[in-house]
Amino acid sequence: MILPSAAPFGVYVHWPFCLSKCPYCDFNSHVRHGGVDEARFVRAYEAEIAATAARIPGRTVSSIFFGGGTPSLMQPSSVQSILDAIGKHWAVASDVEVSLEANPTSVEATRFRGYRAAGVNRVSLGVQALDDTVLKELGRLHTADEALAAVKVARSIFERYSFDLIYARPRQTLDAWEAELKRAIAEAAEHLSLYQLTIESGTPFFGLHKAGKLVIPDDDLGRDLYDLTQRVCADAGLPAYEISNHARPGAECRHNLVYWRGHEYAGVGPGAHGRLNIDRRRIATETEKRPEAWLERVETNGHGLIVDETLQPGEVADEFLLMGLRLAEGIELERYFMLSGRTIDPKRVSFLRDGGAVETTDDGRLRVTLAGFPLLDAVVADLAA
Ligand SMILES: C[S@@+](CC[C@H](N)C(=O)[O-])C[C@H]1O[C@@H](n2cnc3c(N)ncnc32)[C@H](O)[C@@H]1O
Ligand code: SF4
Repeated sequence: MILPSAAPFGVYVHWPFCLSKCPYCDFNSHVRHGGVDEARFVRAYEAEIAATAARIPGRTVSSIFFGGGTPSLMQPSSVQSILDAIGKHWAVASDVEVSLEANPTSVEATRFRGYRAAGVNRVSLGVQALDDTVLKELGRLHTADEALAAVKVARSIFERYSFDLIYARPRQTLDAWEAELKRAIAEAAEHLSLYQLTIESGTPFFGLHKAGKLVIPDDDLGRDLYDLTQRVCADAGLPAYEISNHARPGAECRHNLVYWRGHEYAGVGPGAHGRLNIDRRRIATETEKRPEAWLERVETNGHGLIVDETLQPGEVADEFLLMGLRLAEGIELERYFMLSGRTIDPKRVSFLRDGGAVETTDDGRLRVTLAGFPLLDAVVADLAA
């Protein structure tokens, strides 16, 4: 352990297994009824961490994120081994943030205590809804009471916790969402992730939606639900710091800020993405998605990489816009220029500013306004053009 470092560097660890597959989810998550050879997987994570660290030695890890899938299905000893491997190959900041995503179905206090002892200091729970009928429809294996009981366990063990809710669901009214959100805020400490339901291609929800059997709020109601969410959360002291993430100031997820602020991160495990800074180049990495194929690749090659390419300055700049403009703080125009050698056309900025979609701050940052957030993709496309 050393002192906090100035340059943020995150490590993302993807655990790709779940107890069941939720019908809306297109994350890289898989169900293995026959069980998972966890010890063998852990050895592969250790190997991939060693291989990555050999390419980018000398970093100080400021955040680690166990995402999934459902990392709370892992044994605490596996989490411990992975954290030990990270600590063996890189320095780890004394104030490192170590987050782990948990599904309320797999929360037991003993396991949570084990994660805490291993070094996890923040959990993020997939609560999704506080209504049992909706939870069933979302294919969740837990009730609202069980989810809240899991939040209580998290609260008793970790200083920092967050939970996810999905809104803009079928039949959801503004009044019902307001009541549900206020109930959720009463259980939240410092952080909430609030996602509008998206219909992802290839999921069962996609087929149902296409067949007209699953109807989600139209754009107008979606917009009203979004505005309501911003108002209720801001009033409760949990303003949005990113399009779907709310926190008390200072309690933002530091790991996710690494992505959105364009810093460096390593991705290990099946289907993990990374961005490495090597010899003044920005390298995009991606590993094999299929868990067993990833395992075999790592066992054969020492890593599971299937993409390992240098991004061109224009690509780095576009990515910086795309990620940075998700943040309420926006982006530094000077950094955009440094990355791309380009400036953003002032005429485009004025046009969007006049329309109320963006604003520039006194210290030269460009940010999307609250009114502009629901149109973020169009705003970014316009600025990047
Ligand atoms: C990897 S999962 C979280 C952890 C854990 N697997 C769970 O489900 O409890 C990340 C989050 O993405 C959100 N999510 C996944 N698919 C979504 C979709 N189609 N629309 C909106 N949110 C979605 C859910 O809120 C979910 O909790
Ligand atoms: S939402 Fe979470 S539990 Fe459900 S399939 Fe996706 S990753 Fe797994």
